[in-house]
Amino acid sequence: MELLKQRILKEGRSLDGGILKVDSFINHQLDPKLMQAIALEFVQRFQGEEVNKVLTIEASGIAPAIMVGYILGVPVVFAKKKKPNTIDKVLHTKVYSFTKNVTYDVIVSPDFLTSSDRVLFIDDFLANGNAALGAFDLINQSGASLVGMGFVIEKSFQGGREKLECNGIKVESLAQIADLSDCKIAFKE
Ligand code: G4P
Repeated sequence: MELLKQRILKEGRSLDGGILKVDSFINHQLDPKLMQAIALEFVQRFQGEEVNKVLTIEASGIAPAIMVGYILGVPVVFAKKKKPNTIDKVLHTKVYSFTKNVTYDVIVSPDFLTSSDRVLFIDDFLANGNAALGAFDLINQSGASLVGMGFVIEKSFQGGREKLECNGIKVESLAQIADLSDCKIAFKE
């Protein structure tokens, strides 16, 4: 997606440890027009698939996910990283973050993810794929069907796509980054 790539080149910063800082339009400040374009691209890429629910994980996945849900006219569920006191029964999984070197809980209420759902998972980053595999676990626990997974930015050098595809998951990402070493940002050809 050219518009997204240009924005990454203009405002993104390549940090030590293979981290891409995109705080000015994805992870802190948000650009609604860009998010709308991102969501339209996702909808086009998953055209023809029957989807009745969009799933993401808080926090940064919510912005692209809600735009996709708005365009498709379907509800958006965000999995939570802490169990709220107001939910009794939960579907629960654990996710290890390489980026942050922590394991965290991811939960979703079975009221909002059920065996009749056909789910499109949307998130901001695909890195090692652990968050996405956690979401896949929750979807499997609920009995829902996974239609596919869409990521705004994929860091191709971290192997997340391979882990998802070997589980039979259709993966789409709008900007694929091949290299973030030496402060540069190189896209996959
Ligand atoms: P994985 O889920 O693909 O295995 O990746 P990892 O555990 O390494 O990533 C954990 C968190 O860091 C995720 O956000 C992910 O979106 C984010 N992340 C990974 N690589 C980058 C990067 O290069 N740049 C930025 N900006 N974020 C990255 P999270 O902890 O769930 O945070 P949030 O959604 O609350 O912002």
